[in-house]
Amino acid sequence: MSNIARHIAIIMDGNGRWAGERGLKRIKGHERGAEVVRTITTYASRHPEIEVLTLYAFSTENWKRPKMEVDFLMRLLKNYLQKETATYIKNETRFETIGDLSRFSPALREQIEKTREATRHGEKLTQVLALNYGSQDEIARAARQLCEKGGAVTVDTLEAQLESARFGPVDILLRTGGEQRLSNFLLWQSAYAELFFTQTLWPDFTPEELESIIDRFKRRHRRFGGI
Ligand code: IPE
Ligand code: IPE
Ligand code: MG
Repeated sequence: MSNIARHIAIIMDGNGRWAGERGLKRIKGHERGAEVVRTITTYASRHPEIEVLTLYAFSTENWKRPKMEVDFLMRLLKNYLQKETATYIKNETRFETIGDLSRFSPALREQIEKTREATRHGEKLTQVLALNYGSQDEIARAARQLCEKGGAVTVDTLEAQLESARFGPVDILLRTGGEQRLSNFLLWQSAYAELFFTQTLWPDFTPEELESIIDRFKRRHRRFGGI
C-alpha cells in the first residue's frame, strides 16, 4: 500500500531571492509568493488525498527583518485574506492559523477572525497559515499550560496542549528555495514526516512540482521505527 499525503506542510522560502534575481524589490517577491499560495491551495483543495495544507508564512524570527518589509508582509496578509475569503468558500476550504497572533494589529487580527469564521464549514481542505509561529515557542507555551493545569507530563498530555496537534502529524514536509533546514517549523508534528527540499524558489513553485513530490513520497518506505 502506498503512503497517503494527508498533511502537507511547506516552508515557502525564496521570495526575496526571486525578486533579487530580477532586479526587483524583495516585496515584489512576496507579492508573487501570495499568488502561488492561492494556486497551490486551490490545487490542494481539489486533490483527493490532501486534507491539511500548513504553510509557513511568518516565523517568530521574521520580526528581525527591516520594519518596512515586516509592515508590507502584514498589509499583504490582510489584503490577501480580505480578497481571498470568497475563493476559500468557493473551494470549500477552511482557513485556520497557528502561532501567537497577539503581536499583530487589531485590524489584522479582526480580518483573520472574519476569514476563519466565514470559512469554517469548508470540508475539502483545511489551510493552516503559520503566523508569528515558531515550534520552540509553541512547545514552551504548551509546557507552561500543562504546568498550570498540573498532572502528568507525557507525550500525549503535552501534545494535547500543542496548537498544531489538532491538524495531525505531517506526512510531507517541503522546503522551497534550496536551504536544507527547518527554521523552527513544526518540529513536534514532523517527528516522522518525509522531508523534501527543492531548489525552486517559492514564486516559481507549481502544482506540477508538488504532484511530482507526492509521487516520490508514495514510493518512500515509511517504517516509523518498525521494520
Ligand atoms: C520566504 O521568503 C517568505 C517569508 C519568510 C515571509 P524569504 O523572504 O525568506 O526569501 P529569501 O529566503 O530571502 O529569498
Ligand atoms: C522560514 O524562512 C520562515 C518562512 C518561510 C516564513 P526564513 O527565510 O525566515 O528562514 P531562514 O532565516 O533562512 O532560516
Ligand atoms: Mg528566506
